[in-house]
Amino acid sequence: MLKFCSIGLAVGVVCLTATVSVWALPSRLVPPARQDSSSVVLAENSESTSKKNMVASVHPLATQAGVDAFANGGNAIDAAIATALTLGVVDNFNSGIGGGCFILIRTASGDFYAIDGREMAPSAATQDLFRDAKTRFSNPSQTGPLASGVPGALKAYAQAVAQHGRLDLRDSLSKGIEAAENGFRVSEAYAAKLRIAKKAMSQFPGAVDVFFRPDPKTGILEPYREGEVLKQSDLADTYRKIAQEGTPWFYRGAFAELAGQWMKANGGIMTAIDFANYKSVNRKPVRSKYRDFEIYGFPPPSSGGVHVAQVLNILEQFELADMYRSDRAGFYHVVAEAMKLAFADRAFWLGDPDYVEVPLGLVEKSYAKELASKIKMNSALTTDHGMPPNAATEFFERHTTHVAAADSEGNWVALTTTVNTTFGAKYVIPGTGVIMNNQMDDFVAFPGKPNVFGLVGGENNAVASGKRPLSSMSPTIVLKNGKPILTVGAAGGPKIITQVLWAIINHLDLEMPIGKAIAAPRLHHQWAPKQLLLEASFDNKIADQLAAKQHQIKRSQSMGICQGIAFDAKTGLFTGAFDPRTTGSAAGE
Ligand code: GLY
Repeated sequence: MLKFCSIGLAVGVVCLTATVSVWALPSRLVPPARQDSSSVVLAENSESTSKKNMVASVHPLATQAGVDAFANGGNAIDAAIATALTLGVVDNFNSGIGGGCFILIRTASGDFYAIDGREMAPSAATQDLFRDAKTRFSNPSQTGPLASGVPGALKAYAQAVAQHGRLDLRDSLSKGIEAAENGFRVSEAYAAKLRIAKKAMSQFPGAVDVFFRPDPKTGILEPYREGEVLKQSDLADTYRKIAQEGTPWFYRGAFAELAGQWMKANGGIMTAIDFANYKSVNRKPVRSKYRDFEIYGFPPPSSGGVHVAQVLNILEQFELADMYRSDRAGFYHVVAEAMKLAFADRAFWLGDPDYVEVPLGLVEKSYAKELASKIKMNSALTTDHGMPPNAATEFFERHTTHVAAADSEGNWVALTTTVNTTFGAKYVIPGTGVIMNNQMDDFVAFPGKPNVFGLVGGENNAVASGKRPLSSMSPTIVLKNGKPILTVGAAGGPKIITQVLWAIINHLDLEMPIGKAIAAPRLHHQWAPKQLLLEASFDNKIADQLAAKQHQIKRSQSMGICQGIAFDAKTGLFTGAFDPRTTGSAAGE
């Protein structure tokens, strides 16, 4: 077994204790990029304003559930959770109670809370789980029972409402129950996701029961098509049971029993006891300063808060707004290099802080200065991870969707929630309507092999019993003069981090309205693979100038989905914006 010892981590030394394992430093293998056909539309359509409150999500029915929560006397926390639970019905290829989430909350009293509802590896999971797996699934970290961690979203939602909301969890579930019971019209995007997932889902009768119906012409079972109404009576019953009996029904009752039985019958390792042992965790948000702003982000096991702060710390060393005006290619080059440096550190240092030591020095200004000094204006760096200060002694405590919510009392929420890739592990626990996540793929499931997002990692993110896989989800809240002015977050694997950065840079440095900040063409660098992704709409001339600086340019149609709400202290207006790359909605009372 090749092991990193903790002091080895700090000084970059690898400790070899035996020779059987395949653990290795991150590989540079390049997986094929996933594409979709979305295109950017005008930002104006994606913004909405209100003086009272605001919620933004990727689905109008879910946003409406949030607005209804406000109308029923709820605050931004109630609105965010009602929206998230409704998304779990009408947008369940992205998120649901079979998945996990991070919730960052700023309360009216000015306090911050980071509720970690990330999935946990089942207790029987080991580092070599996937290497040793005897399973009929060809990609067991992505499809089928081994792909799932113990879901945490519901526990975190319930905690958020109980501790910081004004309504009951029962109220938050009501719109989801309606949407599941009465059905909703399948959109073009939803139907496309079903088509893509069809083959994998066909292996699971529970998923076929929910998402397939007899074709009107042939009678053969096929996924629902665009324009048809999808009703989910099992999911409605599941939500009703939770409304009546609370989260114990899910974590200690009938749901956990059913899930445990299904796992046993299908080669899984998760048990009812794993559900009973699941805990949402209160973590300390990552707080950093960026120019005149305070940035609050989510700490590990998210990599988002650390690397949003780290990249901004590096960028603070440059006159970004001036560069944007006078040297556009230089501006994008510097941002790309800062992203690359941060992602190199992500692959080496980051993991679940309850299991590994993640250095606090990653977000130190002195370290950012050292990294910034490496950036050359005329050529792209070939780089490895750096060595943050006090790396041996000071540590953090330990397809996806984003909901933004805010109210005039001063409650602000950034909630990112996910079952990981489209329809998670592609199976439903029969009779419950609940799609289970495939978050185990966010671990380094196969050492040296990139995961579905092309991310590589080291032993800090190896599978272990009860451990939480590293995430890129980056719910973020920004303050100016002590008052919140922005909540933002995104979906899209590692592109979450870079989208949040773009929203911040575009809105705060370049003074774009939030809708435009989110709509503007993006670039993304994640260190490995060695390529600079440019959105299809990104300016050709600047792309050529970046190529001349030795960036390996690749165009992408798929740059993630971001939601945000900004507040203008002069007008007293909230402006909510959904990403115009999807058919979302932002609304207030
Ligand atoms: N499952 C994607 C993430 O958490 O980063």
